[in-house]
Amino acid sequence: MKRNIIITGGAGFIGSHVVRLFVNKYPDYRIINVDKLTYAGNLANLVDIEDKPNYTFVKADICDYDKMLELMRQYDVDGVIHLAAESHVDRSIKDPFTFARTNVMGTLSLLQAAKVYWDSKPEKYEGKRFYHISTDEVYGALELTHPEGLEPPFTTKASSGQHHEAYGEEFFLETTKYNPHSPYSASKASSDHFVRAYHDTYGLPTIVTNCSNNYGPYQFPEKLIPLFINNIRHRKPLPVYGKGENVRDWLFVEDHARAIDQIFHEGKVAETYNIGGFNEWKNIDIIRVVINTVDRLLGRKEGEDLDLITFVTDRAGHDMRYAIDSRKLQAELGWEPSLQFEEGIERTVRWYLDNQEWMDRITSGEYEKYYEDMYKNR
Ligand code: NAD
Ligand code: DAU
Repeated sequence: MKRNIIITGGAGFIGSHVVRLFVNKYPDYRIINVDKLTYAGNLANLVDIEDKPNYTFVKADICDYDKMLELMRQYDVDGVIHLAAESHVDRSIKDPFTFARTNVMGTLSLLQAAKVYWDSKPEKYEGKRFYHISTDEVYGALELTHPEGLEPPFTTKASSGQHHEAYGEEFFLETTKYNPHSPYSASKASSDHFVRAYHDTYGLPTIVTNCSNNYGPYQFPEKLIPLFINNIRHRKPLPVYGKGENVRDWLFVEDHARAIDQIFHEGKVAETYNIGGFNEWKNIDIIRVVINTVDRLLGRKEGEDLDLITFVTDRAGHDMRYAIDSRKLQAELGWEPSLQFEEGIERTVRWYLDNQEWMDRITSGEYEKYYEDMYKNR
């Protein structure tokens, strides 16, 4: 094999898209998917590639340092793409310890395993990569502002020449000071610092990227878009936090996976790249789009489920606005999102409606036992 790459968290939402892309695009790479299969890990996300000869699944906890070192040796690993994490803000508010354990200690254990193994090789860090996937939430929250005389969302022009709508004049840059607010974002910020510290202290060839909100197939239905699609299908209430005024910047998951591929191969060691598609939406507006799309695709009257919207108590510490400036990535590596949002959301809603069995297994509670048994029988 030309390369041996560990992808952590490959049974999760984004990880499964990254694993699929690498396994299919690089038949001469061995892809080792290391995943603990927490509630969010689902091997059904990978059925289409699980029998490929260049794919291996290992059920393991990234916090298990001895196991991580053993895997580095066993597969002579020369690249790590690290996505495994606890990823849901609401869960982090209820159970911060699990987030610190996996996101901070797990990342540290992987870093140390990579360092110790690569230190033992004659060529040391030559040709090696430790790529850490992080989030825009580490930068904190932006305010909703607009230039005098312009109503939000107002149109701005990025240096790429592309026009986009924005809800504020500020954006997250790679140089924006970290200011995390939730236990989730605090744990991701801490992990980012450890990754950079391993470069600065030991010279480990690291890269960090910070991406905005992803949407698309295989997302666990605790997150806004899949949760709401499923609730609309069953005509259940849609719990909108606060007034639904918060703004998120949405990127189709396959575009994130393409960026990860390009950055892993062409990105500069020790650099940080922001990934996003200049696609800001107020929650309440995106929710209306999702309702209309589900209604249309189910043959209902468009908008007939708008009355499912139910305003509920706001999320504690709810960040008002995220907006990524990804011009560095566009200028240096030429990456651009491939999909317009209208097309991406249509594909996403259609996928969930066409894959109701996938959704029903998760939401019925059979899911953990089913996959535990499936794993035992492999
Ligand atoms: P996810 O929750 O869908 O998947 C996480 C995966 O990690 C699961 O398969 C889970 O089983 C695995 N995992 C969790 N703890 C583990 C452990 N201790 N050992 C091994 N595996 C473990 O998450 P996601 O939304 O796909 O996010 C993936 C990564 O991308 C995370 O690091 C997240 O912070 C980052 N990110 C996510 C988004 C987004 O919008 N979802 C945006 C930017 C960055
Ligand atoms: O910005 C990147 C981050 O995006 C990732 O790092 C996280 O892993 C990912 O979960 C996501 O975080 P958010 O908190 O933005 O995503 P979530 O889908 O939980 O919520 C999106 C917005 O919708 C947020 O403003 C909260 C709101 N919301 C969410 C849920 C689940 C609701 O109003 N009601 C809900 O039921």
